[in-house]
Amino acid sequence: MVDHKVAERIRRPELLARIQSAGQAARLFEPGMTVGMSGFTKAGDAKALPRALVERARERPLDLTLITGASLGNDSDGMMADAGVFRRRLPFQADASLRRKINTGEVMFIDQHLSETAEQLRSGALPAIDIAVIEACAIREDGAIVPTMAVGNSASFVQGARHVIVELNLAAPAALEGLHDIYVPRPRPAREPIPLTHPGQRIGATAIAVDPARIAAIVVTDSPDSPSSVLPPDAGTDAIACHVVAFLEGEVAAGRMGPELLPLQAGIGTIANAVLHGLTQSSFRNLSMYSEVLQDSAIALLDSGQLALASASSITLSAPVRERFLANLDKYRDWIVLRPQEISNHPEIVRRLGIIGLNTALEFDIYGNVNSTHVGGTSMMNGIGGSGDFARNGELAIFVSKSEAKDGAISSVVPMVAHVDHTEHDVDVLVTEWGFADLRGLAPRERAPLIIERCAHPFYRPQLRDYYERALLRGGQTPHVLEEALSWHERYRTAKHMRAA
Ligand code: COA
Repeated sequence: MVDHKVAERIRRPELLARIQSAGQAARLFEPGMTVGMSGFTKAGDAKALPRALVERARERPLDLTLITGASLGNDSDGMMADAGVFRRRLPFQADASLRRKINTGEVMFIDQHLSETAEQLRSGALPAIDIAVIEACAIREDGAIVPTMAVGNSASFVQGARHVIVELNLAAPAALEGLHDIYVPRPRPAREPIPLTHPGQRIGATAIAVDPARIAAIVVTDSPDSPSSVLPPDAGTDAIACHVVAFLEGEVAAGRMGPELLPLQAGIGTIANAVLHGLTQSSFRNLSMYSEVLQDSAIALLDSGQLALASASSITLSAPVRERFLANLDKYRDWIVLRPQEISNHPEIVRRLGIIGLNTALEFDIYGNVNSTHVGGTSMMNGIGGSGDFARNGELAIFVSKSEAKDGAISSVVPMVAHVDHTEHDVDVLVTEWGFADLRGLAPRERAPLIIERCAHPFYRPQLRDYYERALLRGGQTPHVLEEALSWHERYRTAKHMRAA
């Protein structure tokens, strides 16, 4: 006898017979398969199958290729990595255990622009999905799957998968139905322009279409997304936010954009969340977001009445904000659209709408190259995520960072970044707690003094000036003392600080 709460959510009665335990569904997985799982920045991830796969891997290593939207919650990535569920992982992660396995070479991690995974699946550059595991809040009469707090790559996984397993999560309100806008571009060469000209526009369906015959199993769960772990704003992030606001006010004063700005994108993590939160202290009104993830700060801007609408691929909130959000879904639903990540991050749309991209750098150099991913030039932190999709294609690429890390042992402004995610050609504005450097229209020799004087920590400025002055003696379009350019990273590796002797 099926629980009435489950029967209400599975609106195609024949599918009720496919309800199984996660352990039974895990039997469908064979070693070496390629698996696509829902989940994007801890939102909308499958909750039961990852644990069942950990159990299954105890009997026999699975060595899967696991593709998701972005990072998973519930420690799933770490547990599966530790148990040897997968050997290959893409396109993004943010888990400490998995990070270790990536950096020891036990897991092959493909760090990918988040808009590109679906394209590579479609073109066949990535192996076809054997099994898609998709969290849902309902299955419609036609069998279509209604996602929960994220869309990510789920629509592309379902389109290509041999088998689909649906995790029906009763903790995700059925009222989420209607929030999503599922549009999947056609394969090339018959591709047409994506008909989206406004951040809030709906161009697709409210659920992921699937032939019900391919739904191999339905697993019922009842557990919320894990809460976001971003830290509250502090003096440093408040100062960064003030500089971002001052820069944007300057853009409005110069007539380059109206007081409603252009649509905003804000990256993951504590700093980007705090900076966006800082806009609640600004006079900007009627703002819009065309982002990949909405964090607490987006809800604060909706609540303050400054944000008129928000489009993204996922909603990742702290526990109290999520509770408030879900309790007031009827209020928020008119303001929010959740899309596949290839649409939220699509270069065509990002360029058309003129997005203002706000992303966080681990470090940047005196010429404006940005490292978002590799600590010390070698060890993966999280991944490039969508930062490149927005930085390369948007109207403005703003990168923020605190000027120092690890209690001042690391300068985030260095002579040369030890890994480049965003080249000087893609970076428009750099911001730290000390100020902003607007690099547009400036040559490398004009950028370096500005970045050093506006963005570097005062402690490290003399060291950077000294490097730059000696580099100038060697000449060139982008002067460097090459044998010394990466020495700050080497000093941190051996002496655990970047301070000159
Ligand atoms: N060298 C080494 N470590 C550094 C560093 C540097 N130059 N700068 C920062 N860090 C460390 C911090 O000390 C902190 O370490 P901890 O976790 O041990 O305390 C960690 O990086 C995170 O920094 P934090 O200050 O807490 O910032 P954050 O939560 O905002 O994260 C990034 C910053 C860069 C890691 C994060 O934004 C990211 O992964 N970005 C890349 C992906 C992206 O931009 N996506 C955007 C679209 S989703």
